[in-house]
Amino acid sequence: NGPNLNLLGLREPAVYGRETLADLEAACRSEGEKLGLAVDCRQSNHEGALIDWIHEARETTAAILINAGAYSHTSQAIPDALRAYPGIIVELHLSNIYARETFRHHSHISATATAVICGLGSAGYRLALRAVAERLAAAKSN
Ligand code: DQA
Repeated sequence: NGPNLNLLGLREPAVYGRETLADLEAACRSEGEKLGLAVDCRQSNHEGALIDWIHEARETTAAILINAGAYSHTSQAIPDALRAYPGIIVELHLSNIYARETFRHHSHISATATAVICGLGSAGYRLALRAVAERLAAAKSN
């Protein structure tokens, strides 16, 4: 999770809901447990920190679920880092970015992602984890 998502629950609740980042992370960890996936949740307001974590994930993870917040619409460096990531990438947005201001309609991350989920709130994160688990299981059985 990228910038401003630490303020979930407090920030524009009409758009992003009342759930906090801690609630969202707990829901992801619990879904991960059900699916047999170890989930490492991180949030930063800093583009470079997100990029360093993407690089680290090259060696340590099978998938990245990323909600880069407003960096989705502005950053070229995050998509460049994602292009160097060999695993599954799911781009997430809590809100439906296409139903909002025009500047949110384009995400530079989408073209680097395996899949994009937006508009489903925290349920999108849980669905993304399920899809990752299915893909990993399918890859194992091939
Ligand atoms: C967001 C949508 C972005 O446009 C916005 O800047 C965010 C959150 C979402 O989760 O809906 O910070 O990524």
